[in-house]
Amino acid sequence: PPHSPPSASPPTQKNAHILVGVTGSVAALKLPLLVAELLKLPGVEVQVVTTENAKHFYNAGEIPVALHSDADEWQMWKGRTDPVLHIDLRRWADLMLVAPLDANTLAKIASGLCDNLLVSCRKLPLMPSERVSAACAAF
Ligand SMILES: Cc1cc2nc3c(=O)[nH]c(=O)nc-3n(C[C@H](O)[C@H](O)[C@H](O)COP(=O)(O)O)c2cc1C
Repeated sequence: PPHSPPSASPPTQKNAHILVGVTGSVAALKLPLLVAELLKLPGVEVQVVTTENAKHFYNAGEIPVALHSDADEWQMWKGRTDPVLHIDLRRWADLMLVAPLDANTLAKIASGLCDNLLVSCRKLPLMPSERVSAACAAF
């Protein structure tokens, strides 16, 4: 028959990978809630990359997914053959959501600064299938 019968199984779909970036706005208090709500979406996997200042606003113990920060980048890389965390995260992510995006990190992104793990994650050229989204929740 020209079309699959309705009972045919749907094609297996890869989970959507969302990389949440969190910066030092008071709205970072909501990070545990944001992650919990994202994880309720079917087929969604989440990892978090945080700035050092954002860490003041949430309890890492309340984040049930991988949480990456600047020290991890250099912990992981000791020599030429080692993986580079910001590149691995960039490849893993289908979408990067920076929420909250504080004024400081917005200015870094706007001017191309890459001095921490979070802003390094979004500096690489986009692959055609990838999208980067920035949410301004802080203002
Ligand atoms: C209690 C507190 C609340 C803050 N809230 C905000 C905010 O809502 N929006 C913002 O742009 N900056 C806010 N800041 C300032 C940022 O934390 C500061 O600019 C910091 O350097 C940001 O660093 P980061 O972008 O590396 O996270 C706040 C600072 C403090 C101490």
